[in-house]
Amino acid sequence: MEQVVFDRLREADRDGIRRMAAIHAGLPAQWGEACPVAEEDIEAFADQLEAGIRGGRVFCETAECGGSVVSFLWAEALEDALDVANIISLWTAPEHRRRGVATDLKKRMEGWARLRGIKRILTGVDPRNTAVVKMNEKLGYRTALLKMEKLLS
Ligand SMILES: CC(C)(COP(=O)(O)OP(=O)(O)OC[C@H]1O[C@@H](n2cnc3c(N)ncnc32)[C@H](O)[C@@H]1OP(=O)(O)O)[C@@H](O)C(=O)NCCC(=O)NCCS
Repeated sequence: MEQVVFDRLREADRDGIRRMAAIHAGLPAQWGEACPVAEEDIEAFADQLEAGIRGGRVFCETAECGGSVVSFLWAEALEDALDVANIISLWTAPEHRRRGVATDLKKRMEGWARLRGIKRILTGVDPRNTAVVKMNEKLGYRTALLKMEKLLS
């Protein structure tokens, strides 16, 4: 397997930011949520990511293999509670899965969080997404809040 190289996304790299925003916008479709991705959603996520990087609250790293991005993780320290970070997005390209790349990114994010004095990491997971549930459990996450919903027709 080719070597994986990790890289921090920079504010000036609008193309890279937009690419990550596009992947993020399409993620729900990967575990069964059929929702078309709108261009304005991608731009809004790109703006959010760029502003977070500019403000120094964001960890966004890519993992590259052979010059292509094969995985990325986007996390942010909360604006109103800087000792808490929230994982916004995590993705690994299908052909690179189960090789520990997302685990490495999460561990790298934990290193960033510790350096900033962050005490707690939050992450929301669709319960159908067993891959992430298993990964989180393996990394020491526990269920802290079970969100429930009722759709009104
Ligand atoms: C979830 C995801 C990021 C995992 O990426 P990855 O690079 O394959 O993860 P890792 O190789 O580090 O896996 C770590 C552990 O997670 C668990 N895991 C990962 N994928 C799994 C799967 N398909 N089924 C069951 N467990 C899985 C396993 O415990 C795995 O360890 P193991 O391979 O030693 O058994 C990837 O599957 C993905 O991009 N999925 C679609 C997007 C997504 O759901 N993002 C998260 C939104 S919250």
